[in-house]
Amino acid sequence: MSTNDSNNSAYNDFHLQFIAGEWQKGKDDSTNTNTNPYNGDTLVEIQQATKDQLNEAYDAATQAQEAWAKQTPATRAAVLYKVVNILDQRQEEIVDWLIKESGSTRIKAMVEFGATRAITLEAATFPNRVHGEIRPSNTPGKENFIYREPIGVVAVISPWNFPLHLTQRSIAPALALGNAVVLKPASDTPVTGGLLLAKVFEEAGLPKGLLNVVVGSGSEIGDAIVEHKAPSLVSFTGSTSVGKHIGELANGGEYIKQVALELGGNSPFVVLKDADIEQAVKAAAFGKFLHQGQICIAINRVIVEDEIYDDFVERFLAHVKTLNVGDPNKQDTAVGPIINEKQVKSLKEKIAKAQEEGAKMILSGEIEGQVVPPHIFTEVTREMDLSRNEVFGPLVGIIRAKDEDDALSIANDSMYGLSSAVFTADMQKGLRFARGIRAGMTHINDISVNDESNTPFGGEKNSGIGRFNGEWVLEEFTRTHWISMQNEPREYPF
Ligand code: TAP
Repeated sequence: MSTNDSNNSAYNDFHLQFIAGEWQKGKDDSTNTNTNPYNGDTLVEIQQATKDQLNEAYDAATQAQEAWAKQTPATRAAVLYKVVNILDQRQEEIVDWLIKESGSTRIKAMVEFGATRAITLEAATFPNRVHGEIRPSNTPGKENFIYREPIGVVAVISPWNFPLHLTQRSIAPALALGNAVVLKPASDTPVTGGLLLAKVFEEAGLPKGLLNVVVGSGSEIGDAIVEHKAPSLVSFTGSTSVGKHIGELANGGEYIKQVALELGGNSPFVVLKDADIEQAVKAAAFGKFLHQGQICIAINRVIVEDEIYDDFVERFLAHVKTLNVGDPNKQDTAVGPIINEKQVKSLKEKIAKAQEEGAKMILSGEIEGQVVPPHIFTEVTREMDLSRNEVFGPLVGIIRAKDEDDALSIANDSMYGLSSAVFTADMQKGLRFARGIRAGMTHINDISVNDESNTPFGGEKNSGIGRFNGEWVLEEFTRTHWISMQNEPREYPF
């Protein structure tokens, strides 16, 4: 089918589950009421899935996967390229859903759309990039072949903050590499985190059963998703607490399985005394307040060398005051709504705690509905809650560092190790500093919020296990199989 043949009418029927290639009603008694976080409008009501429906999804995935793995690389790649075409054709519709369902500002929705498109395009190259190896043997007459095979069925559990992208970066590589998927999107974003992508893959001609979207609450069906016999890999993105639980279940239950865990972060953003302060200020504002700070790689701690601390704070405050806050649908809104009431409550608690602990609040504002305006705190220390824990909101603490060594020590003083950033005019110093940081990613003279489909994305310490994108996800979503061939009779000791 050429790109022009695609049906361009807007997708509907988001109140159904997508199981075994059919749109079917959830059979659980409970309903997911999906609302717009900015104005509270109900977007769709979804009757949730039962464990029997989850089993049905796993059965369908298991059956469909075998035939899919045997398809030629060109056939699998063609589906992924078609998905890219459909994303392009439906860009406006998708961006609109990201704004109304996840509270994305228009700017963030476009960033997310771009990242989703990029990983789909990257995944389309995987069927032809996956390859094995031949290794020498120390046993006379033996040949060693290392095969890289599909892993089988992959369980994907995704979060609400970048729902489209953080779902697609697991399911597109998984499918491209010959696997089948059972996906549970976050309850706050069942459409952009799953059902919308199911529509896209269905339109692209993905065979039935390969992608299943099961909408249900994590606390109700989450354990069953992980403990089920079918998945060989669980790809989870979300909080460290749930990630730890999933890791335990995946390795402590009846069936051992691999896990890819992309968890919380506490990204330091370090400004050294020779940095271009104006550029660092703009970067800090974007890297902190994009999507209201609800990004695992968002700047969580701003660490500034003493000599330029006051100058940085003054300029940062002036810049942040110019940001537009409110309706995410408006072109120039920088800070939109928080995803749900529970998160707003946790931010209110953090604001109170920061003040109790002695941080100085130099910018605040009225919280209206779920819109929390930027809050800036100075004289924050490494011991305070704002420094120790992931904020996931538009609150930022600025920490004073005595010198470069102190800045590095503060940057590394965290149980997380996802992303990080350092600003300096001296690239050698920047590189030295970057290499001193224990994190999966560090960006010199840029923000911690970076994701490219061909570079390794992931963290260490409590930020998780595994890497996304490029060759790294290609390895993660395949299994290695050593096959040896003994070409002449081998001599055994007995
Ligand atoms: P989580 O509770 O971790 O939710 C992430 C996903 O896990 C959702 O799909 C959720 O489903 C599911 N889940 C929840 N409990 C589960 C269980 N027992 N077994 C299997 N799956 C389960 O995160 P959240 O509540 O949405 O956000 C809370 C915090 O998580 C944030 O403050 C932030 O720190 C962190 N977070 C991090 C990221 C990234 S990208 N690292 C993204 C989002 C949130 P339900 O939605 O149905 O509960």
